[in-house]
Amino acid sequence: MIKINENFLKLQAGYLFPEIGRRVAAHAAANPQAPIIKLGIGDVTEPLPPAIIEAMHAAVDEMARDETFRGYGPEQGYEFLRKAVIENDFLPRGVDLEPDEVFISDGSKCDVGNFQEIFGLDNVVAVTDPVYPVYVDTNVMAGRTGDALQQGGYGQIVYMPCIAENNFVPELPAEPVDLVYLCYPNNPTGAVAGAEQLSKWVDYARQNKAIILFDAAYEAFISDPAIPHSIYEIDGAKEVAVEFRSFSKTAGFTGIRCALTVVPKALRAYTAAGAAVDVKAIWNRRHSTKFNGASYISQAGAAATYTPEGKTQIRAIIDLYMSNAATIRRSLTKLGYEVYGGVNAPYVWLKTPDGVGSWDFFDILLSKADVVGTPGAGFGAWGEGYFRLSAFNKPESVKEAMDRFAKLIW
Ligand code: MLT
Repeated sequence: MIKINENFLKLQAGYLFPEIGRRVAAHAAANPQAPIIKLGIGDVTEPLPPAIIEAMHAAVDEMARDETFRGYGPEQGYEFLRKAVIENDFLPRGVDLEPDEVFISDGSKCDVGNFQEIFGLDNVVAVTDPVYPVYVDTNVMAGRTGDALQQGGYGQIVYMPCIAENNFVPELPAEPVDLVYLCYPNNPTGAVAGAEQLSKWVDYARQNKAIILFDAAYEAFISDPAIPHSIYEIDGAKEVAVEFRSFSKTAGFTGIRCALTVVPKALRAYTAAGAAVDVKAIWNRRHSTKFNGASYISQAGAAATYTPEGKTQIRAIIDLYMSNAATIRRSLTKLGYEVYGGVNAPYVWLKTPDGVGSWDFFDILLSKADVVGTPGAGFGAWGEGYFRLSAFNKPESVKEAMDRFAKLIW
C-alpha cells in the first residue's frame, strides 16, 4: 500500500494566492461586468523593456542555427550571467564573490522553498510573523514543524512577531534556533532592515552556529542609500547566510523565470557529531541532481538587465511601480488609514479600519469596490487586522483603486 507523506496533511489551508484567486474568480463569475483591479499577488504588469526583448530574440535566433544551438547548459547557470551578477549587484557594494558561489535558477520561490531540504529535520526554524508562506509551508511538508495548532501556526516553529513597535524587524529569539528566515525589504510589510539590525542577526547566527536564509527578492526597490541591499554587506555574513535574489520583480520576469541564490564558500553547517560541512558543496550536489539549469533564453534576458540600456529601462519600470506605492500611501494616509511600507518596497501594509478582520476586509473591498488585496492574516497570526496592497499595476488602475477606497463606507 502506497503511503502518503502525512506532513502534507498538516498544511492548514490551500496556498494563499490560489485561495485569493478562487475568491476573485467567484466574484467575477457572479459579477461578469465588475471592473476588478488586482493589487493582490505581487505580479508585474509592465511589458519587458526593449534591451531584454532584443537579447532574448537574439538568443532564440542562436537556438535556430547549427553553429550556435545550445542544449543543456550548466546546472548552476551560464558564467556570463553569474559574472554579470557579481560585477553589477555585489562588487559595487563591496561584496566580492566567485562565480561558483552564485547559483542561477528558475525562481526564488523554488530556491527558498527547496533550501531547507539540505538541513536536518531536528533543526529549530524561526520565521517572522507575518511571513511569506513558502518558508513555513515547505518546512511543514518536510516534517520539521510539528502539528498545526488550534490557534494557528505550528508547534515547533518559532514565530517572531513583526509589529509597528519593532518596525517590523524581529527581536532575537529567546530560545536557540538553527535556521532563520529573513526577508528584507519585507514581503508583506514593506519594511526594511538597517545594517545595525542585520548585524545583530549575523552575530546571533555566528554565536549560535545558525544559518540565515536571507530573501532579498525586493532589494532593487530600496531607495534609502543607508539600507543594505545584500546581507553580505554585513561583516561575517558569508559564514552564516544564504541570499536569494530574483529577476521577477526587478526586471519583470515573473513569466520568464530567472533567479539566483548565493551560497558562499565560507558557509558551514554541522553533522550531529559537530563536524563542519561545506554547505555550498551540498547545495551544488542537490542542485545538479534535481535541476537542469534555467533556460538559455531567460539567462540571456537576465544578463541584458546589466547592460547600460537594460539598467536604465528597468529602473524606469521600478520607478513607475514605486510611484504607485507613493500614490497608495498618500491616498490612504489622507483617508485616515495607518499605513506602513511602500517607500523601499513595492508593498503597502495597512491597518484595517475599526478592527475589521483581514479576510472580512478582503471580502468587503472585493464586493463593494472590486479591488483585490491580500489579507494580512494569510501571512500569519500577527498579520491579522492588517492588509497588503501591491504596487504592481498600471498607475491609472492604482489611482482608480484609491478613488474607490475613498468611496468605501464602513
Ligand atoms: C507575493 O505577492 O507575495 C509574491 O508575488 C509571491 C511570490 O513572489 O511568490
